[in-house]
Amino acid sequence: MPKYKIAVMPGDGIGKDVTEVAMLVLDKIGLDAEYTFADVGWEFWCKEGNPLPDRTIEILKNSTCALFGAITSKPRDEAKNELAPVLKDKGFEYFSPIVNLRQMFNLHTNLRPCKAFEGNPLNFRDDIDLVVFRENTEDLYSGVEFRPIPKELNDVLLKNHKKFARFANMPDGEIAISLRINTKKASRSISQQGFEYAQKHGYKSVTIVEKPNVIRETSGMMLEQAREVAKNFPKIPLWEANIDAMAMWLVKNPQDYGVLVASNLFGDIISDLAGQLVGGLGFSASANIGDDFAVFEPTHGSAPKYSGQYKVNPMAMLMCTKLMLDWLGETDKGQALLSAIALVIKEGRIRTYDMGGTNTTLEMGDAVASLL
Ligand code: NAI
Ligand code: MG
Repeated sequence: MPKYKIAVMPGDGIGKDVTEVAMLVLDKIGLDAEYTFADVGWEFWCKEGNPLPDRTIEILKNSTCALFGAITSKPRDEAKNELAPVLKDKGFEYFSPIVNLRQMFNLHTNLRPCKAFEGNPLNFRDDIDLVVFRENTEDLYSGVEFRPIPKELNDVLLKNHKKFARFANMPDGEIAISLRINTKKASRSISQQGFEYAQKHGYKSVTIVEKPNVIRETSGMMLEQAREVAKNFPKIPLWEANIDAMAMWLVKNPQDYGVLVASNLFGDIISDLAGQLVGGLGFSASANIGDDFAVFEPTHGSAPKYSGQYKVNPMAMLMCTKLMLDWLGETDKGQALLSAIALVIKEGRIRTYDMGGTNTTLEMGDAVASLL
């Protein structure tokens, strides 16, 4: 029996192109694994009214971890329009498969390493080495939202918070509420993991990126927990930054920072900013990690205009593959893959369009695989 069972979800558009490259590299690296392909994405929404079919969830439940390419998603009304005619008006609602997977498998930690590779012409600076720890299951992405507002909720808010008075009793549709829900457990865990990572990998600081001066309860709790956790890591300073100021600092002095910790929405924003500093979507990899399961996905979407053209950069997906190897404990293989990626970038002979080259996704993948 193979040591690992890995679920592979290519998804839509360029998700398929880059997943092909990941498989090529995994083959070459000789991981002792069995791969099971699983359906996810727009195609299955249109055909079945479910972008994350139950059979896929079954496969995931029987897997060690999963690789995810990218999916197409569209706003609610467009999604309804593209449903197969027999499924229309049957009450199907589109939902984001990746947000669902994170919540369903409690993948509480989103890890986004953003390190400048030597020789990457897209680097904002060559000395950037950031790692974002983003809480992945709560916050403004909890999905508890209202429009219209139920009367009971209106009344409870009015009774319990004087600041709600100016929003109370508005006509239906004139007001919307999206709840930012954060738990102490998850707020603490994301800081704990950020500090542990900083200690293990020699990062000099941890920065908590929030907005506690305005969002006192939720951001306040994030900060409180970060300070608590920091007490156990006396050698690593905790820096505190507001999300808005941090956006400026990251453009001004990105080289000064190491590990960044944030709640879901702020982490989403800051990790895209950090990713762009080291090459953008073609280089941005992420790991969604839970207690005993993980899903690895590049940050980019399905880029429909390049679908099936083998034009896009597979490095983000290959970095995901590296994160997966590390998570499995196959750190030698992970290091070998990282070295191969770094060498291909440094030599600069093979480059996809985003790096100013004309090579294909597969040529880039072959260049990496040939070094393994
Ligand atoms: P996108 O990330 O798919 O592409 C935006 C642009 O970035 C592309 O047109 C291309 O110029 C560039 N790009 C993306 N990946 C690249 C790569 N690997 N190498 C080089 N260049 C790359 O974002 P967009 O166009 O906003 O969304 C397209 C679809 O993807 C939408 O349906 C959106 O909802 C979905 N999406 C899915 C995500 C996911 O699966 N996690 C994340 C973001 C968007
Ligand atoms: Mg994002």
